[in-house]
Amino acid sequence: MSRATATSIRIHRHGAAEVLQAIEVGVGEPDAGEIRVRHTAIGLNYIDTYHRSGLYPTPLPSGLGMEAAGVVEAVGAGIDFLAVGDRIAYAGGPLGAYCQVRLLPAAKAVKLPADIGDDIAAALLLKGMTAWYLLHQTFAVKPGTTVLIHAAAGGVGSLLVPWARQLGARVIGTAGGPEKCRLAREYGCHEVIDYLNRDFVTEVRQRTDGAGVDVAYDSVGRDTFIGSLDCLRRRGLMVSFGNASGKPPAVEPGILAAKGSLYLTRPTLADYTATREELDTASGALFAAVRGDVLHADIRQRYPLRDVARAHTELAARMTCGTSLLIP
Ligand SMILES: NC(=O)c1ccc[n+]([C@@H]2O[C@H](COP(=O)([O-])OP(=O)(O)OC[C@H]3O[C@@H](n4cnc5c(N)ncnc54)[C@H](OP(=O)(O)O)[C@@H]3O)[C@@H](O)[C@H]2O)c1
Repeated sequence: MSRATATSIRIHRHGAAEVLQAIEVGVGEPDAGEIRVRHTAIGLNYIDTYHRSGLYPTPLPSGLGMEAAGVVEAVGAGIDFLAVGDRIAYAGGPLGAYCQVRLLPAAKAVKLPADIGDDIAAALLLKGMTAWYLLHQTFAVKPGTTVLIHAAAGGVGSLLVPWARQLGARVIGTAGGPEKCRLAREYGCHEVIDYLNRDFVTEVRQRTDGAGVDVAYDSVGRDTFIGSLDCLRRRGLMVSFGNASGKPPAVEPGILAAKGSLYLTRPTLADYTATREELDTASGALFAAVRGDVLHADIRQRYPLRDVARAHTELAARMTCGTSLLIP
């Protein structure tokens, strides 16, 4: 029986970053269908702040974190595709990636190819598979598509932008402030709007000769939701996939008619990677995009795991760009 103990971040109540507590926990042997994984890098995602604050309620007490890479230490019964020593990564529940060692359902694990490093996997798996399904499945972006991408200098934004461009889209991005706008241009935006200082709806309308964009990728939520609808062409698609500024308003179906017979979807990664086949397709497409130089893990922040409160504070205060890792 393993006697491994490991640092793990837990919350006992929902709230601001100070509810995050480091504790030592014992980690036992995996049950059937589980593996024990020693993390080498942990991905920081905006959704972690929703779980912490209670915007997305979780039973308490709870671990936190949905994405990490590491090495398999032990394999439970009934698993034939993983062995001790394999490098893996995962993106999705059950919560608890903010730790050094954990038990994980093997069904969530993706075996890492030799040319995909642990840091890259932990920085990209969740955000990159999200970018993949948003651009390929939620809407099939192709040459000639005009897209609007909010928070284009952020984690998901830094991947959506170059991938949309590689697919042949005209990419209009938004970002907060001149430095983030410069970065969004570096990621591949054809045009960037500083939405802290300009009205992005007016700008998008002007830049599309009044026509609007084919699809709006909106992860900002409350502050941009209605504006994003106003940026769409007739019968365009609104993809509301996040709430960085708070939950978007409730929507009367009639508003979609009034603004041009619009489509609205609110997708989540879990519904695009629910089966092994879907997970392998999404992760395989991501790894191919990394190999093909389409995407880069622009890791701009690295925090020791015990500094997770600072990481959450900086992410929520819009102080980060690109992707962020917690180092166990
Ligand atoms: N549905 C899905 O499948 C899925 C999967 C992954 C991520 N997401 C969502 O995608 C979004 C991005 O996630 P991420 O981890 O890559 O985070 P991120 O984009 O690195 O950080 C969030 C960014 O949102 C922008 N923002 C605008 N208003 C804000 C406000 N009031 N408070 C805080 N930030 C604000 C900021 O960029 P500026 O300063 O440039 O405005 C900030 O840097 C999140 O909403 C997340 O929930 C959804």
